[in-house]
Amino acid sequence: MNLFDVYPLYNVVPKKAKDVYVYDEKNNKYLDLYGGHAVISIGHSHPHYIKLLKQQLGKIGFYSNAIQNPLQKKLADEIGEQSCLHNYQLFLCNSGAEAIENALKVASFFTNKKRIIAFKNAFHGRTSAAVAATDNQKISSPLNLQQEVSFLPFNDVRALEIEISKGDVCAVIFEAIQGVGGLDEPEEDFVYAMERLCKKYDACLIADEVQSGFGRSGTFFAFQKYKISPHIITMAKGMGNGFPIGGILIHPNIKASYGMLGTTFGGNHLACVASLAVLDILKMQSLQEKTKSLEFYFKKKASQIPQIKKIKGRGLMLGLEFDFEVSDLRKKLIYEQFIFTGGSSNKNLIRILPPLTIKEKHFDQFFVAISKILISND
Ligand SMILES: Cc1ncc(COP(=O)(O)O)c(C=O)c1O
Repeated sequence: MNLFDVYPLYNVVPKKAKDVYVYDEKNNKYLDLYGGHAVISIGHSHPHYIKLLKQQLGKIGFYSNAIQNPLQKKLADEIGEQSCLHNYQLFLCNSGAEAIENALKVASFFTNKKRIIAFKNAFHGRTSAAVAATDNQKISSPLNLQQEVSFLPFNDVRALEIEISKGDVCAVIFEAIQGVGGLDEPEEDFVYAMERLCKKYDACLIADEVQSGFGRSGTFFAFQKYKISPHIITMAKGMGNGFPIGGILIHPNIKASYGMLGTTFGGNHLACVASLAVLDILKMQSLQEKTKSLEFYFKKKASQIPQIKKIKGRGLMLGLEFDFEVSDLRKKLIYEQFIFTGGSSNKNLIRILPPLTIKEKHFDQFFVAISKILISND
């Protein structure tokens, strides 16, 4: 049977991985500055993560959400402690898109409205409402067009007020640092305006932290650079270090009712333990705190390379913009220098999303490699 051919693949077959390195079948060692798309947070195959998952597998891997699973409450408490969002409520699911879908659904239930405001260049996933709120017509099918979504530019408060004041908006959804879109961020004033206008016109503010959450940006969630309280926060990628898990945090003012949300696999025992192991390591190794100095080091090194026109992002969610398309550069980084990086919808931008265990010496290796390629291209 053939695979449904939806991915243009790089010709690398990973066989094993350890911390910030991935090894292929010929034992080539790749530096992972992509983290499998911001997923690897505590490093590949962390011994604590392996130990807790193996232990849990020997006890119980899964049972239905119809009965008690105390690991979910333990996870909720730990996320509450590390994010300082103690009063929020946790609902667990299995992926980023599912988190978005549930967040939009909660917003619609809560406000009894259905239009969504999303932003230019946003990426929120590929399921029904999530893809409709994604600013890429090519990946929306006719079925997805039934959702009512308005796309606005960041930082245009007037445009936002004109749309939201029409009274039919259930949610304003934003990424505090755009991922797939290429690391753009809304300005501070606009972030506060979004919160103010959502309150005024009875809409929910949704912070999509699927990519930027769980310590990657230097704060637990990227929106926490500002003093706002979104109604709903979505999370997924770094949450399980590769074990499929997603979730939403819901403001205490939004009350749950039986049947409002539900899932078979979401919040299963293994997924909870994977995420608890991630939170243990984030805390024990102070990984979130370390992202700040790593960001500073990376930006200093990047600013010494004249071909780099713009350095974007925060923490370990970073972007390097050139005045040419970077797909050849990224291929050379993989095939000649054995370094994985990420792309984005901005074709001139390289995305850097390493495991949070990355060290300065790994960035040194990257900048030597990129300089070599740039010099040989001249
Ligand atoms: C900001 C953001 N939201 C949602 C998603 C969708 O997540 P998933 O691919 O797990 O469905 C992504 C995936 O890249 C993302 O970057």
